[in-house]
Amino acid sequence: MRTPFVVGNWKLNKTIAESLTLVTELKNQLSAVKGIQICVAPTFVSLPAVAKRLEGSNIGTCSQDCFWETSGAWTGEVSGPMLVDAGATWAIVGHSERRQFFGDTSESVGKKARAALAAGLGAIVCVGESLAERDGGRTLAVVDDQLAGGLSGMDGTIVARLVIAYEPVWAIGTGRTATPGQAQEVHAHIRKRLHERFGATLADTIRIQYGGSVKSSNAEALIAEPDIDGALVGGASLEAADFIAIVKAARGT
Ligand code: 13P
Repeated sequence: MRTPFVVGNWKLNKTIAESLTLVTELKNQLSAVKGIQICVAPTFVSLPAVAKRLEGSNIGTCSQDCFWETSGAWTGEVSGPMLVDAGATWAIVGHSERRQFFGDTSESVGKKARAALAAGLGAIVCVGESLAERDGGRTLAVVDDQLAGGLSGMDGTIVARLVIAYEPVWAIGTGRTATPGQAQEVHAHIRKRLHERFGATLADTIRIQYGGSVKSSNAEALIAEPDIDGALVGGASLEAADFIAIVKAARGT
């Protein structure tokens, strides 16, 4: 039995003050919710204040990326040990916006995932096809390539801190959600690859989140699918009421 895992990816949104307002409300309203794991992913700038505000709560703090080196001449980057120092416990790597606009590749995502895990963070490795790739019948091949890169060099010892997020690019920020059936098909394929990679027993413990226009109205149906173990939520995580409703819908299944 996998505990559902819901993460709010705030992307490039919210000042420190706005971040604190939102997490204070989440902390107060979600304190009694059990049977689900919850995280928020603020910007690097807001992360330390958010992590501090969430201390002692049932909500964790996640970063939106993690560089592969620990320190040195890498202007603009933030490393795993620095994220741990700032209060993060999880890191998203390989988000499609990083792949699309910032040059992340299957290979660099693998390096970032290994660095996050080496620092003691959990790693949420994102995969997902574009609309052209889906229309061209290449969804599973694209996901295979991203998965192979993202998981390279990993062994079974890290499985407890590894999460895969399937986020079809055409569903991100578009209001066009994958149907539960479409998402389940890809999730089942990812699970099959995890079986091949880590063995059935370990692979069955790895959570696979769905992301792409998740809302309170569709979260329950998505998470009811056998291989969908939670959600990576963008836009709907920016309003407390929306995110709380998604967490409660996800827990309800
Ligand atoms: P939306 O929920 O805004 O579609 O974003 C999904 C996403 O990219 C989460 O990482």
